[in-house]
Amino acid sequence: MSTIVGGIFTSHVPAIGAAIAKGVQQEPYWKPFFDGFPPVHRWLEQAKPDVAVVFYNDHGLNFFLDKMPTFAVGAAPRYENADEGWGLPLFKPFEGAPDLSWHIIDHLVGSDFDPTTCQQMLVDHSLAIPFELCWPEAAAWPVKLVPIAINTVQHPLPSPRRCLALGRAVGAALESWDGPERIVILGTGGLSHQLDGERAGFINTAYDRHCLDTLGPDPDALARQDALDIIEQAGSQGVELLNWIAARGALTGRVEEVTRNYHVPISNTAAATMVLANEAPVPA
Ligand code: DHB
Ligand code: FE
Repeated sequence: MSTIVGGIFTSHVPAIGAAIAKGVQQEPYWKPFFDGFPPVHRWLEQAKPDVAVVFYNDHGLNFFLDKMPTFAVGAAPRYENADEGWGLPLFKPFEGAPDLSWHIIDHLVGSDFDPTTCQQMLVDHSLAIPFELCWPEAAAWPVKLVPIAINTVQHPLPSPRRCLALGRAVGAALESWDGPERIVILGTGGLSHQLDGERAGFINTAYDRHCLDTLGPDPDALARQDALDIIEQAGSQGVELLNWIAARGALTGRVEEVTRNYHVPISNTAAATMVLANEAPVPA
């Protein structure tokens, strides 16, 4: 039986990728953000996942405004990174886990979700940068990938309730997977940020802290807002919180916070990192 070891939640600001490429992680601007990762690395060393199921949003690379699936699941043997316009270096390719992807897709469709299935899929900074943060300097990624893209870009957006339900359905699919894999869940993006419009640069630390405090113990409380409430509170790109809510849903056991870091700002974003371990429920 597979094991869901826990969830890693992190911002995916493109400038992080540029900072890694330049090797400036210890400079004063970057250090408070990168200092959040040694505890993540220590946790990964003992959690030893072999597969990462990643909830993220595509920013106009694989999907554009002309074709925008609400939920898309990758089922490719391999995924390439590409740069949708930030001038970032290319990140290493990702080995897929197509059998597990199809198992998840079967389970989702059987649970009345209607995902788009992608046997070819490019992945952008919002997937590659979290991998670089979790496994810096790895010659090859030590985990296989199942990418799950959520539309946080073009309205209408899925509701937080639906994203939590999607995550829970993915968690149930993983629990019914017979393989021996150890699976880590990633949720990327956020926290508060708005890149455009009159509120460009908007950050809401009180709301971010509320989300960090609530995600582990009471994700349903976050799911009672609607997506427009999140935009009002966290900014129009802060709605990437939907990826975190879905990822939290895939943690089916008793969650235990391992570490968190919150630093404002990185670029235009309130940057946050958190690990929730997924402990097996205590038998009744
Ligand atoms: C920034 C943040 C993002 O989530 C993103 O996708 C692009 C840019 C930023 O703060 O610069
Ligand atoms: Fe983003």
